[in-house]
Amino acid sequence: CKMIWVLLLLLLLPLLLFIAAPQIRKMLSNGVCTSTAQLPGKVAVVTGANTGIGKETAKELAQRGARVYIACRDVQKGELVAKEIQTMTGNQQVFVRKLDLADTKSIRAFAEGFLADEKHLHILINNAGVMMCPYSKTADGFEMHMGINHLGHFLLTHLLLEKLKESAPSRVVNLSSLAHVLGRIHFHNLQGEKFYSAGLAYCHSKLANILFTKELARRLEGSGVSVYSVHPGTVHSELVRHSFFMRCMWRLFSFFIKTPQQGAQTSLHCALEGLEILSGNHFSDCRVTWVSAQARNMTIARRLWDVSCDLLGIPMD
Ligand SMILES: *[C@@H]1O[C@H](CO)[C@@H](O)[C@H](O)[C@H]1NC(C)=O
Ligand SMILES: *[C@@H]1O[C@H](CO)[C@@H](O)[C@H](O)[C@H]1NC(C)=O
Repeated sequence: CKMIWVLLLLLLLPLLLFIAAPQIRKMLSNGVCTSTAQLPGKVAVVTGANTGIGKETAKELAQRGARVYIACRDVQKGELVAKEIQTMTGNQQVFVRKLDLADTKSIRAFAEGFLADEKHLHILINNAGVMMCPYSKTADGFEMHMGINHLGHFLLTHLLLEKLKESAPSRVVNLSSLAHVLGRIHFHNLQGEKFYSAGLAYCHSKLANILFTKELARRLEGSGVSVYSVHPGTVHSELVRHSFFMRCMWRLFSFFIKTPQQGAQTSLHCALEGLEILSGNHFSDCRVTWVSAQARNMTIARRLWDVSCDLLGIPMD
C-alpha cells in the first residue's frame, strides 16, 4: 500500500512541476527592470539584436521611444525583426545595420556608417555573442570566442567612444556571464593555439568582458559615460546553437530557464536606471553581484587592455 503512494507521488511530481513551472520560473527570474524612463531623442545600438535577449532589449528601448539600431550579421533577419518591433511598438525609428563582429573590416564599416548618420549615441549594448563553437577563427585570425565576444566588441566600443562621450550622460552595457568564474586569461594562449576547449573558451571571453568593463570604467571616470557588465541569467536563446549537449540540457531544464524577455531585464536595468556611481560593476537579476578574483584583478585587466589594443592595431595611451 505504501508503494502505491510512492508511485502516485512519483507520477504526480512531474505534473506538479509542470503546473508550477511559470511560478518557479518567475521566482528564479526575480529582478525585473522597474525603470519608467522614457527615451525620446535617445539613440541606442544593440549588437546581435536580431534574436533572443538582444531582440527583447531592442524592443523595450524602442517601446520607450529611442532610435534603435539593430546591429547584426544577417541583415535580412534583422529587417524582419525591425518590422516586427515597429509594428508592436508603433516606433518607426528602428534601423538595421550590417555588423559582423568576426571581421574588423565590418566593424569599422559599421562604425563609419553610424558616425556619419547619427549625431549621438546614448546607449551601447554589447549583446552579441557565441558559445561553445568548435575551434575556428575570425577573419582576422582571432579565436572565435575571444574574437567576437571580446575583441570585436572592444573595437566597436573604441570606435564609438568619442560619440558616447559627446552624448554623455551615456552608457555601455556588456553582456557577460556567471560562466566567467571558470575563465582564465592565458596570455600565452589567447587565441587557443596551444590548447583549446570550446566550453572554456566561452568562459575566458566572458571573463575578458568583465575585466574590460572594469578597465574602461576606470578610464572613463568623470566622463559621464558609465559602463556595466551583466549576467543575464540562464536564458533560452540561440547561444546554445553550437552544442547538441547544451541544447538537450536546455530542453530538459526548460522549466527553470528564463525567457529572452526575462533575460533582458538586467541589461535594461543597467541601460535605464541612474546607476552612474556603480559604473564598472557586474550585475545579475538587476543587482550588483559578485565576480571572481580573476575578474577583480586590475593587473590582468590592464594587461589585457594593452594586448587587445596591440592585436587590433589601436594606438595605446
Ligand atoms: C565591454 O565594455 C568595455 C567597457 O565598457 C569595452 O571596452 C569593451 O569593448 C566592451 N566589450 C567587451 C566584449 O568587453
Ligand atoms: C593578479 O594577477 C596576477 C597575475 O596572475 C597575480 O600575480 C597577482 O597576484 C594578482 N593580484 C591579485 C590582487 O590577486
